[in-house]
Amino acid sequence: MSGKFAVGVDYYPEQWPEERWATDAALMRDAGFNVVRLAEFAWVKLEPALGEFDFDWLDRAIETLSAHGLEVILGTPTATMPAWVMAGDSSIYRMSSDGRAATFGHRRGYCPHHAGYRRHAERIVRAMASQYANHPAVIGWQIDNEFGDRSYSAVAQTAFQAWLERKYGSLEAMNEAWGAVFWSQTYTAWSEIPVPLDTGGPHNPGLALDFARFSSDGYVSFQREQLEIVRAACPNHFVTHNLMGFGYDQIDYFDLASDLDFVTWDNYPRMWWNVYAGDDAARAALGHATMRGLKRQNFWVMEQQAGAGGWQMVVPHPRPGELRLWAYQAIAHGADGIVFFRFRTARHGTEQYWHGLLEHDGTVGRRYLEAKQFGLELQRIGAQIAGSVAKSSVVLLHDYDSRFALQIQPNNPELQYATQFAHWYSALHRRNVGADISSSTDDLSAYSLVIAPLLHVVTPEAAANLEHFVQGGGTLVLTARSGVKDGSNAVVNEALPGLLRDLAGVRVTEYDSLIGSSNGLRFDPNTVLDAADVTVNIWCDLLEPSGADVLARYTGGFYAGAAAITRNQVGRGSVIYVGAIGDAALPETLLEWLLAAQTAAKLETNQLEITERWQGETRLRFYLNHSADPQSVALGGQATSLLTGDAVSGILKLEGYGVEILTD
Ligand code: GAL
Repeated sequence: MSGKFAVGVDYYPEQWPEERWATDAALMRDAGFNVVRLAEFAWVKLEPALGEFDFDWLDRAIETLSAHGLEVILGTPTATMPAWVMAGDSSIYRMSSDGRAATFGHRRGYCPHHAGYRRHAERIVRAMASQYANHPAVIGWQIDNEFGDRSYSAVAQTAFQAWLERKYGSLEAMNEAWGAVFWSQTYTAWSEIPVPLDTGGPHNPGLALDFARFSSDGYVSFQREQLEIVRAACPNHFVTHNLMGFGYDQIDYFDLASDLDFVTWDNYPRMWWNVYAGDDAARAALGHATMRGLKRQNFWVMEQQAGAGGWQMVVPHPRPGELRLWAYQAIAHGADGIVFFRFRTARHGTEQYWHGLLEHDGTVGRRYLEAKQFGLELQRIGAQIAGSVAKSSVVLLHDYDSRFALQIQPNNPELQYATQFAHWYSALHRRNVGADISSSTDDLSAYSLVIAPLLHVVTPEAAANLEHFVQGGGTLVLTARSGVKDGSNAVVNEALPGLLRDLAGVRVTEYDSLIGSSNGLRFDPNTVLDAADVTVNIWCDLLEPSGADVLARYTGGFYAGAAAITRNQVGRGSVIYVGAIGDAALPETLLEWLLAAQTAAKLETNQLEITERWQGETRLRFYLNHSADPQSVALGGQATSLLTGDAVSGILKLEGYGVEILTD
């Protein structure tokens, strides 16, 4: 990433008459944009028939855009294959877990494990990379588009068998790891191993977790094949992929990101589905923090919501000011590039109602004008922001193995990894406590508080990493259903929380999955935690402390009085074990207390989001008003507005959906 701040749009010249391109390019330039992403769905225009390439139109489009000062990111177009590719080989289609094969007419219909499809992809990527390797306007590449979705096809099955053979070396080792003797599932040949289609009912958890890992690896390796071609041909270009934030749960994004120069993601704060808890602002912030954590570096938003979304239905329209606000929110959390999706609203195809910056008829309205205001602002201030970094003293551990394992066996109908994780994140967000998101094996020494929601699968490396952190003086929060599984997704052969038991200083003697019932937690007023009772309705671990203090006990049921939350002093640090799971109330209560104990915490409880990025010794403070009403906040001292250059002191006033950036 250069020191330049990237602002731009996703543009589809192939969908509009060529006579219009110069008008569009001029509008982009006038909006202060400097980048444009092209071609990620244009395969059939680039290769109308097998091996016959046509780059003329794309050359001309790039020429027009670059004549208006725009630099180009090219997408490899492998998410939407031409009909002629599929007509030649129906075994390419991805199969979903219900046994149904995809059909032509949508996108991402391919099975990522299919060698023949990968050869098609290799051909178009090689041709594009060689065509644009030395083009002065091209700066980088996006591989495919939003990789995802597991494939259960016959091709995937054969690839899974080969993946298992590489992983285990022998059937004996695999059978042992899975405990395959259960229900006579012992395999005597690799070719006997099934994929976990839903049609047969729930599968062996060991097989199912390996299948989730294999499926993730399939996209990682497909991406790597393309990436190596691009890197070899275009050593001066960056290579990235557009990921889908925290909400997407089918790929281990730490793995997918490791091969990229930097992460980009697609940020749509206003959608019609609520995939996990929290309000729009907290959800978007969680997405940004997740993406920043993958490589512990700044990221871009490759698709930033530009209007109301919609395929068959239309989502409520972003309010005046929200597009700009959301773009600044991304920056406030570490974005060094914002690319709006999309430029002009499509007249044809599935996304006719996915509103871009321009209207269907190509006219300019308030969305374009708002993006223009943002673009011109970034033209002035972008260089002062680009490359500055967020610093947090709190980190949440995001563990894809645990997330996959809980997809396979959720334990309770109301227990969702993403929702529980978001409860913890939202409680921090609401208090304007910046939080990073890391994997359980990352270096944690920069943090004072580590929160590990539902660390269900625990490896010896992760356990050692957490112990090292706590011994060094950190506070670790663990929840129920942690340390339950080993790396093979077998239940550990010891009392829970398994490898974390000594660290937590507790033993789980029994547990109660609450279905249609609830229990209360009473905090012990003699401890530091003196809070009102909290009700939980998902899970209760009954704890037997072995060295830990009891912070809360259950109030009801046959285990009334049993320990529910404990704190264990270890070395210079401590471990809080939260044995009960419910809604947002419990993380709220615990964080109120924990953050008060953290010197680094800033307690702000209004609706105003406040974050920081540091440019060397210079602090940039972002103030984001996510409500329609004006808000104000008291400033500590004299500051300067990056947006206006004015001196600011006393009370900072922000209009509805307003934004301010201050330097000290
Ligand atoms: C993203 C995708 C875009 C567009 C957008 C709106 O998921 O990458 O191509 O489809 O959503 O639906």
